[in-house]
Amino acid sequence: MVINKEWSVLTIGDGDLSFSRSIFDNFQPKKLTATVLDSVTELTNKYGSENLDYLQQQRDGALSLVDCQVITEFDITNSDNIHQLTKEYDLVIFQFPLVPNFTSQNEFQQHTQADELPLSINTINRRLLRLFLVNSFDYLLAEDGAQLAYISSKDVKPYTEWDIEYSLTKSSLTQLPEFSCVGTMPFVIEQFPGYKIRNVDRDKHVKDTASLTYVWTSNKNRDVALELLPTMNPLPTLFGELGCDICHAGPFETEQEKISHLAGKKHKRMSEYEVQWQGYLLSL
Ligand SMILES: C[S@@+](CC[C@H](N)C(=O)[O-])C[C@H]1O[C@@H](n2cnc3c(N)ncnc32)[C@H](O)[C@@H]1O
Repeated sequence: MVINKEWSVLTIGDGDLSFSRSIFDNFQPKKLTATVLDSVTELTNKYGSENLDYLQQQRDGALSLVDCQVITEFDITNSDNIHQLTKEYDLVIFQFPLVPNFTSQNEFQQHTQADELPLSINTINRRLLRLFLVNSFDYLLAEDGAQLAYISSKDVKPYTEWDIEYSLTKSSLTQLPEFSCVGTMPFVIEQFPGYKIRNVDRDKHVKDTASLTYVWTSNKNRDVALELLPTMNPLPTLFGELGCDICHAGPFETEQEKISHLAGKKHKRMSEYEVQWQGYLLSL
């Protein structure tokens, strides 16, 4: 992951704050704002307060060169929360995003109905990531800054079924995102000593599965970003009629190969997710 010392960095949904602490210790950016969805009490009950205390001490310590701040109860989908911050960041990072588990049928219903449209878990995770990107580019990333948003995610199902690279920037009737995914980098945890990837709700360290960091930038900053991050891997090629863009498959050599793909289980499942996602985008 590329993090420049000159940058102002904002982390979103940082479970136990060990990722932000590792950025503070090992990268020393100009500014670091670390946010978590949980309240102080929830965070402390789940993981203890060691990282929170550490970052708050750095904020208060006169010796620190990093302008460091921690915000709890920060929901990246909530506009009141977002407006606590200003459009001053170079880089916004969301590590291993996942919507929290629902504790009741009532809560599940609240989160899975958008204007009467029932949403699947796949769609509400895509919605979380789209709102993270839209809000980052609209309200958090400085116009004259590096203009980068990173999402790290495991390279296995169900996360790969979110079609992170392509689905999040599709246009809706009212929104045409002016940013796009420009590539991926392998996520190398050894770059972040002390970082423990946390489960969404429990004090468990998640298994180290191969993971990717996806990179977005504004369309006008694309060339600068590609120059800044020259080792990024390109996105999977889409082949249109010659392949299947929903599954990133192809090019098919024969008509029979295409027919078999379209009849397969994976394609059927991905098509259902795509239809659900299009339904959500149309409802915006
Ligand atoms: C799998 S955990 C990963 C935690 C942490 N980022 C890490 O890498 O260890 C998913 C995280 O996403 C956060 N999250 C889910 N929805 C969120 C939202 N609307 N705003 C901010 N964070 C959110 C959860 O609080 C949870 O900590």
